[in-house]
Amino acid sequence: MKRKKVIAGNWKMFKTNSEALQLANQIRIKTTDIKATQIIVCPPFTALANVNEVIKESSIALGAQNIYWEKEGAFTGEISPGMIKSAGATYVIIGHSERRQYFGETDETVNKKIKAALENSLKTIVCVGELLEQREANITREVVTKQIKGAFAGLNGADMQHVIIAYEPVWAIGTGKTATPEQAQEVHAEIRRVINELFDKTVADNLTIQYGGSVKPENAEILLKQVDIDGALIGGACLKADSFSAIIHTMENLSNE
Ligand code: PGA
Repeated sequence: MKRKKVIAGNWKMFKTNSEALQLANQIRIKTTDIKATQIIVCPPFTALANVNEVIKESSIALGAQNIYWEKEGAFTGEISPGMIKSAGATYVIIGHSERRQYFGETDETVNKKIKAALENSLKTIVCVGELLEQREANITREVVTKQIKGAFAGLNGADMQHVIIAYEPVWAIGTGKTATPEQAQEVHAEIRRVINELFDKTVADNLTIQYGGSVKPENAEILLKQVDIDGALIGGACLKADSFSAIIHTMENLSNE
């Protein structure tokens, strides 16, 4: 079974428009040889349209980092699925742990956002992952299962074709602490098992599950080699074209093995 391999860069709240243009250009130039790996860049909202101009003729896809679920209305400061689409995005990250931690997102709002994205033909990268105290309390499995059940409530197998799950242990994000390949593989396999239970084996077998949390060129290969790890969601290391491209090439080499 050859699942789609996906390397996505979450730029978070970094890069002005001119910086974004420069980074997108460098990424495009450094990845012209990539065939088997889907690359996604997720700049801040303000840079979406500009970055789209740079990458639209390439195979790099554009994603946003968040959306609101309403089509339009009096929701000051929010951005709709249609708006990111009009800026060129085809993907959106939903339920990143920083949004859950700092902006009050819950499994219910994550579910609404996924539905709104899919209704607008956007593909989603849905983030799940446990806090350090939850891992230490040995409840990682329960936490991730609950997030998945909440996120995908009311969805069917066809919807899941447009979904990528990113497993990001919160204690590994931006901390330099990476999950060991064994820890990551164990949770990825568990996620696939839960998806099999909620949907069916085909959906589970076809689902791309990315790992995220301090992925760098130095640790990418050992993580991406795990059987249930189908790519990575990168924060810090995607802000420089060299390190992002190195991780993409690691994935590409493994895909071609
Ligand atoms: P990091 O971030 O690579 O900087 O740990 C990953 C993420 O938050 O998606």
